[in-house]
Amino acid sequence: MLAILGVLFLGLASPAFAAQAIQSPEISSSPANASQILDRALASFSIEYGYLPSFGGNISHPNELTRRLMQRLVERTGVGPDVRPGGITIDSSQYNPDSPALTLVESSSGGIYSSTFGPALYESLNVFPSSSKFIVSVNLGNDTIKLARDEIAAAIQHLGWDRIRALELGNEPDHYAGGQRPAAWSSSDYTAQFIGWTSVLTRNLTLPKGIFQAGSFADDPPTASMTTEEIIDEGAGDTGAVEVYSQHMQVRYQFSTCDPIRDAIATLPHLVNHTNITSYVDLWKPQVAAARSVGKPLVIGEYSSVSCSGKENVTDTYGQALWLADSILYSASINITRMYMHQGATLVLQSGTQANSPGFSWYDLWYPVDSDRYGTARAGPSFVAYLLITEAVGSSGHSQLALVATPANPQLAMYAIWDKGKLSRIAILNLANRYVSTSADDAENLAVTVDISKYVSGSKVSKVQVKRMTAPGIDSKDSDTATWAGQSYTNGTANGKEVVEGLNRGQVKVGGSEGVLVILP
Ligand SMILES: *[C@@H]1O[C@H](CO)[C@@H](O)[C@H](O)[C@H]1NC(C)=O
Ligand SMILES: *[C@@H]1O[C@H](CO)[C@@H](O)[C@H](O)[C@H]1NC(C)=O
Ligand SMILES: *[C@@H]1O[C@H](CO)[C@@H](O)[C@H](O)[C@H]1NC(C)=O
Ligand SMILES: *[C@@H]1O[C@H](CO)[C@@H](O)[C@H](O)[C@H]1NC(C)=O
Ligand SMILES: *[C@@H]1O[C@H](CO)[C@@H](O)[C@H](O)[C@H]1NC(C)=O
Ligand SMILES: *[C@@H]1O[C@H](CO)[C@@H](O)[C@H](O)[C@H]1NC(C)=O
Ligand SMILES: *[C@@H]1O[C@H](CO)[C@@H](O)[C@H](O)[C@H]1NC(C)=O
Ligand SMILES: *[C@@H]1O[C@H](CO)[C@@H](O)[C@H](O)[C@H]1NC(C)=O
Ligand SMILES: *[C@@H]1O[C@H](CO)[C@@H](O)[C@H](O)[C@H]1NC(C)=O
Repeated sequence: MLAILGVLFLGLASPAFAAQAIQSPEISSSPANASQILDRALASFSIEYGYLPSFGGNISHPNELTRRLMQRLVERTGVGPDVRPGGITIDSSQYNPDSPALTLVESSSGGIYSSTFGPALYESLNVFPSSSKFIVSVNLGNDTIKLARDEIAAAIQHLGWDRIRALELGNEPDHYAGGQRPAAWSSSDYTAQFIGWTSVLTRNLTLPKGIFQAGSFADDPPTASMTTEEIIDEGAGDTGAVEVYSQHMQVRYQFSTCDPIRDAIATLPHLVNHTNITSYVDLWKPQVAAARSVGKPLVIGEYSSVSCSGKENVTDTYGQALWLADSILYSASINITRMYMHQGATLVLQSGTQANSPGFSWYDLWYPVDSDRYGTARAGPSFVAYLLITEAVGSSGHSQLALVATPANPQLAMYAIWDKGKLSRIAILNLANRYVSTSADDAENLAVTVDISKYVSGSKVSKVQVKRMTAPGIDSKDSDTATWAGQSYTNGTANGKEVVEGLNRGQVKVGGSEGVLVILP
């Protein structure tokens, strides 16, 4: 009688409590179909060149917040992230050995028309870990090779080859047509100029072979006017100058605050959706394949969730952490080698109808200095995503990753990570949208429980560790309550007591808008 009641009770309760439907998808014990070996700098940064001093400071006034936040990443992977000082302001820049760090020619509203920098600008890069590599981005837009030559020579002198990952000519050259180039400027024109300039620069500066990062195109494939596929076909790699191909994920055609139509649809439910994220990233698969076919990596040299510097109450929330974690891990699963998340500021003249005014971008992972817009310098609520990702990647330099199919749960993003060939970690992101105002009952419906016991031998189940990324809701903007393993990182150091959980009867529960990293013994 009791048993029958029990069955009846479960039968009534389970539709209302989806969290009780336990998932245990298949994970292969070998990484046979996983990604390439993960680059430990997978989660890297692009920093708008004109704002580099705000992020880095200089020798006498280093930005200690930036230094601390970067240290948190080194602790997890053993190396610093890559840093690409770049973006649209590089194409109106000029190096002058006698100039101060950075002189901007600005509009009355704070837009940057052009800039001149001197040797002291390199001091800004000093706060980044000594293991961080830099992308040296130089002016191609101006169409004057001497400007690029002098910028490369200065970088070699002040940074040294140990610190230089690659040299990059220009930012988003697919957007030059009708502005810095004639209206008919095309992919073959770019390729011809790339081949010409790289050979002159290589001869003039005695550059090593294969040192350039080619591309840096803005627009989404396949409709973009320039792509990696196309420039490879046109022979961009034929002279041996290319080390790596780059395309951006920044000018996302759906979501942008550069015009009212795309602004209206740039909402948290549209962004924090695993189906949307994967179908968008999949557009780059042919680009990855093209680069790999000539033995080169593809990187995303600049990106974020909403183009034109993000959107208030959307990209400055904890929801951005889920968007970042899923976008980066999924990109890694399709062999995108590194992702340079853009940090910077709104520039005027990005479009005649842009919603944002100048100031730090709404998507920045941290606000490096005090500002009217954001108040006190601090990490944003999305910073915790970088802790989940760097711990998922780990420090061995021998990890690989694969998306695990969970068809019963389309908003679950589950990634298996093999370290030295052995299944070692599982990252589980539950993208079901939970808001600050979501009731406890509704939140319970969004939670998913995953049975981990089948991935670990019986005697070791009690040794499994779980670290959790969570916050009051995807719309929360409070960095103090966005936590990783129970700790917040508002000022760049761990605050609070670390919480490392175990499994509950072999299972882990992942609430809506939470992420966990399951660490297998
Ligand atoms: C790899 O993928 C192939 C094709 O989908 C499949 O036949 C094979 O079983 C997979 N191997 C592993 C170890 O999962
Ligand atoms: C990723 O790289 C691995 C290892 O080289 C390879 O086996 C796999 O097929 C690649 N996947 C994609 C989508 O390129
Ligand atoms: C370093 O930064 C401080 C504070 O912004 C500034 O006053 C100083 O002039 C800078 N030093 C150099 C060499 O640019
Ligand atoms: C190139 O730089 C020169 C010197 O700063 C400037 O006068 C000119 O307007 C620039 N041209 C373009 C196309 O940006
Ligand atoms: C490189 O270019 C600079 C500036 O145009 C020139 O002064 C120098 O002679 C060139 N050096 C070589 C080795 O070609
Ligand atoms: C993203 O998801 C929403 C549902 O949350 C859907 O309405 C929208 O069309 C999707 N957008 C894109 C670009 O896939
Ligand atoms: C996510 O977006 C897809 C379209 O890409 C849509 O079909 C689905 O309903 C969305 N999921 C949620 C939970 O809104
Ligand atoms: C963002 O949210 C705050 C607080 O709810 C509100 O005052 C502000 O108007 C919102 N901004 C936008 C652009 O929606
Ligand atoms: C960061 O904040 C915590 C908590 O308020 C404090 O204990 C710690 O000293 C602060 N660290 C720094 C470097 O300011």
